[in-house]
Amino acid sequence: IQASSPLPHPPKSIKSISRSPALTSIPPAYIFPSSPAADQSAPVGQIPTIDFSPLLSSSPDRRSETVADLRAACRDWGFFVVTNHGVPDGLIAAMIEAGRKFFEMAEEEKEEYRGGKKGVLEPIRCGTSFNSSVEKVFCWKDFLKAFVHPVFHSPSKPPGFSQVLEEYSKRTREVARELLRGISESIGLEPDYIAKKLDLEQGMFQLLAANFYPPCPQPELAMGMAPHSDHCLLTLLTQNGIDGLQVQHHGNWVDVKNLSPNSFLVNVGDQLEILSNGKYKSVLHRAMVNREATRISIAMAHGPSLDSEVAPSPELLGKDEGTRQLPAFKGMRYRDYLLLQQSKQLDGKSGL
Ligand code: SIN
Ligand code: FE2
Repeated sequence: IQASSPLPHPPKSIKSISRSPALTSIPPAYIFPSSPAADQSAPVGQIPTIDFSPLLSSSPDRRSETVADLRAACRDWGFFVVTNHGVPDGLIAAMIEAGRKFFEMAEEEKEEYRGGKKGVLEPIRCGTSFNSSVEKVFCWKDFLKAFVHPVFHSPSKPPGFSQVLEEYSKRTREVARELLRGISESIGLEPDYIAKKLDLEQGMFQLLAANFYPPCPQPELAMGMAPHSDHCLLTLLTQNGIDGLQVQHHGNWVDVKNLSPNSFLVNVGDQLEILSNGKYKSVLHRAMVNREATRISIAMAHGPSLDSEVAPSPELLGKDEGTRQLPAFKGMRYRDYLLLQQSKQLDGKSGL
């Protein structure tokens, strides 16, 4: 007989629940009130793919074509797949494997990374669901978060984890910087505008968010990650070859299908929506779970320096038709935004 109230204490990990031998149904605390299935009936098209290499090219024509592709992708989807990014396949595979080994460690091994005093500003933090201390319904996932830039923090185990993470952080940061240069240009600003304005050269905030979604006996009732938008400027995500992410597009949930572990799925975050005064939207997304396979995703969030104040760029206001004349958002320090968004339940675009 299952208890009908939420679990009295948040569980340590969903890994241990999912592996209990007699598990045939999910505990009630994991049942989401409504979890509409993806609507595949509407002809919604495909998430665009962008070849990264022209951004490094010395040919202005090749570069400007890619900038135009970035503009269309950010405007129409808020999500795009990036290929030819130059991060070695072997490094991505090593990062995913390092993530798997972290989550596979015994729960006691992770104890030192749970529940630190600084809450969401704790530089290394692992746990289950999203914020299990405030949630009414739990997500079917375990996570690890580490602040990797401007100061590098990493769990010291499992062996080799921090070395892989450090290299992976560096390489993904370079890709994010270059994409942000192209995106800056795509909204009619100088390529270095965003980097200068938000102190990205020295201070870019970069966060690892590794997610572990074990098999779930009733995937249609559960949610790996509830609908949310990302708090940062730009997220680069890769996964272990198991799909599960859905992206909202024209009112439908669209599956991200066959995302290769060698590509990055990139999305616009809230800070870019604010800076662009809503020209680019940070789009809601969520993660579904499945009955058979463990899904691992590695998301790298790239944001302004924590002390930057982010507001609609004055240069954009009233500049062209696609831009609203008046600032649509108040300015806010990124650190305060992060606290606001991460300290609540995941609930749509609650931060904006
Ligand atoms: C995320 O939205 O941060 C992660 C979703 C996923 O696991 O694909
Ligand atoms: Fe996200």
